[in-house]
Amino acid sequence: MNIEDVKKICVIGAGNMGHQIALCAALAGYQVRCTDISQEMLNKAEGFAKTYLPERVAKGKLSQEQADQALRNISFIQNLEEAAADVDFVIEAAVEKIDIKRKLFAELDRITPPHAILATNSSFIVSSKIADATNRPDKVCNMHFFNPALVMKLVEVVQGPHTSTETAQITMDLSKKMGKNGAWLKKEIYGFLVNRILAALHNEALFLVDMGIASPEEIDMAVTNALGHPMGPFRLMDFTGIDLSYYIGMERYQETRDQKDKPSPLIIEKFVKGEWGKKTKKGFYSYD
Ligand SMILES: NC(=O)c1ccc[n+]([C@@H]2O[C@H](COP(=O)([O-])OP(=O)(O)OC[C@H]3O[C@@H](n4cnc5c(N)ncnc54)[C@H](O)[C@@H]3O)[C@@H](O)[C@H]2O)c1
Repeated sequence: MNIEDVKKICVIGAGNMGHQIALCAALAGYQVRCTDISQEMLNKAEGFAKTYLPERVAKGKLSQEQADQALRNISFIQNLEEAAADVDFVIEAAVEKIDIKRKLFAELDRITPPHAILATNSSFIVSSKIADATNRPDKVCNMHFFNPALVMKLVEVVQGPHTSTETAQITMDLSKKMGKNGAWLKKEIYGFLVNRILAALHNEALFLVDMGIASPEEIDMAVTNALGHPMGPFRLMDFTGIDLSYYIGMERYQETRDQKDKPSPLIIEKFVKGEWGKKTKKGFYSYD
């Protein structure tokens, strides 16, 4: 099999990530079936496509013909059997729960044709924790998009010990066809590339505040001014949610029992106070 054999794609989950991944694939010319257990999420995803595409045409970023074609390429189907029955590639972007993903992959293994590649967009779960739920582990890998998927250029393709090089190559090629730059990780590692680098930066920034060296505002200013990041680590944690930083740290710590994986005292303090960032109107900054 090679990339030219990929014509039909099923995207599972029409949430934050799935609805945009599906539209990226439709814009790249693929026949896309976007599916979700929630009809409401599918309606929202369809509504988004119907407003986003005309907006791109109005801005001169797409021709009317391209927008019309993308809409023709995509369908929103609640029934998984119907959505995945004859596809060549699946991108799973359902909730970040391993038991749900394992169950989905077992079902997909039964439903999809034997040649189909099954990729997960999981942020942290390596595909070796899912691949053995199928009878085609060589065709299972991570294909990790970034949020918002229509805008962000990077896709991390993670080749597990069970993943064939052909599968990883086709996933890299598909990323390119979807207008993305693929980064091919030849081995599995927790957090892949970007989330590891980001975690290292955030941990160091938190350590400097915990040590009383500088304030969050000063560190954000230093990182934006000297490193050219659009946002400093504290502002970014406020946006993504300090509760999320806490849960990710706690989950990792429970797995490794390594003190360095434990959330920093500052994160624990903010979590306990309910100061979770923008969503609670207070985190490292106030948002009144
Ligand atoms: N949000 C991000 O910034 C981001 C970035 C990269 C990767 N991811 C990963 O993408 C995946 C989805 O994240 P999200 O932020 O889009 O979540 P989300 O909660 O916005 O969407 C998940 C969707 O999955 C649906 N769903 C749940 N169980 C399902 C099932 N069995 N079958 C079909 N649909 C099901 C839900 O109804 C929901 O619409 C996760 O694995 C996450 O780790 C998220």
